[in-house]
Amino acid sequence: MSAQILDGKSVRDSILAELKPRVEALAAKHRRPGLAVVLVGDNPASEIYVRSKVKACGELGIFSERLTPPDSITTEEMLAIVEDLNRRPEIDGILVQMPLPAQVDARRILLAISPEKDVDGFHPYNVGCLVANSPAPRACTPAGIIELLKRYRVPIAGRRAVVIGRSDIVGKPMALLLLHENATVTICHSKTPDLAAECRRADILVAAIGRAALVTGEFIKPGAAVIDVGMNRLTRREEAERIYTRQPEKLRQLAEKGSILLGDVHPIEGPEMAGAITPVPGGVGPLTIAMLMSNTVRAAERRLEAREAAPCSS
Ligand code: GUN
Repeated sequence: MSAQILDGKSVRDSILAELKPRVEALAAKHRRPGLAVVLVGDNPASEIYVRSKVKACGELGIFSERLTPPDSITTEEMLAIVEDLNRRPEIDGILVQMPLPAQVDARRILLAISPEKDVDGFHPYNVGCLVANSPAPRACTPAGIIELLKRYRVPIAGRRAVVIGRSDIVGKPMALLLLHENATVTICHSKTPDLAAECRRADILVAAIGRAALVTGEFIKPGAAVIDVGMNRLTRREEAERIYTRQPEKLRQLAEKGSILLGDVHPIEGPEMAGAITPVPGGVGPLTIAMLMSNTVRAAERRLEAREAAPCSS
């Protein structure tokens, strides 16, 4: 059996195509939506993510601004940047790329972002709205996964969902969104005994642990929908030989490029066991960006609605 591929790129394209007329309507009526992306230091992975986010804004007609303070920035200096962005009328969305350097108090930064401009859905107010299932921006990666499941008509209500990973960015909001779709949800993490047995009960398995190919065939119920959030770089030849036993071209790729990109799900055993699976790359990554664009457009629309209701305020 080989799984159906859940193609994140085609879902992203549909979401962006649906957003385009909304961006045009905003531009015609008022102004283009605006997104500020703050990238601290020079973390290579974060730089790649931020480049994709800024590129997507350009393609959709969203104004974007990239701020790149140095790695040595203090919490107070970061707070000043956020407060300035909160005040600027042409900025509808603020994204502070995580992780932040250790000396910066990430909680204080997230708390300082105005909840209406929090296009990541990380502000405690918006997290509270998620828990209460009331409208607010949702964390982009989990929201994108729900969109993917719905657009591929993967049933969620009444199904057993297992989320591996309990991060604030993916695991926890993912579990809550699945719960609100009426799945029976289990969250697993590094201290979960017999992880494979727990995962084998899942009709929908979301892997967000950050460990290359950890989810092998024995973790997957035959026919399950498997969502791979992992983005890992494999550099060790022995590890690549163990994973890609029947794919010599992958070993050649490692020799040529120095690394192979792979998810948390075993790239051969995953598609053999699952009924449907997201590829890496081309699965969850494009959806995160699409949902960021969606949250930014929504934030701009809401700010315009508020302005129209009270024309004297900015
Ligand atoms: N780091 C990894 N994923 C994300 C994300 O979705 N948003 C932000 N701000 N930082 C991240």
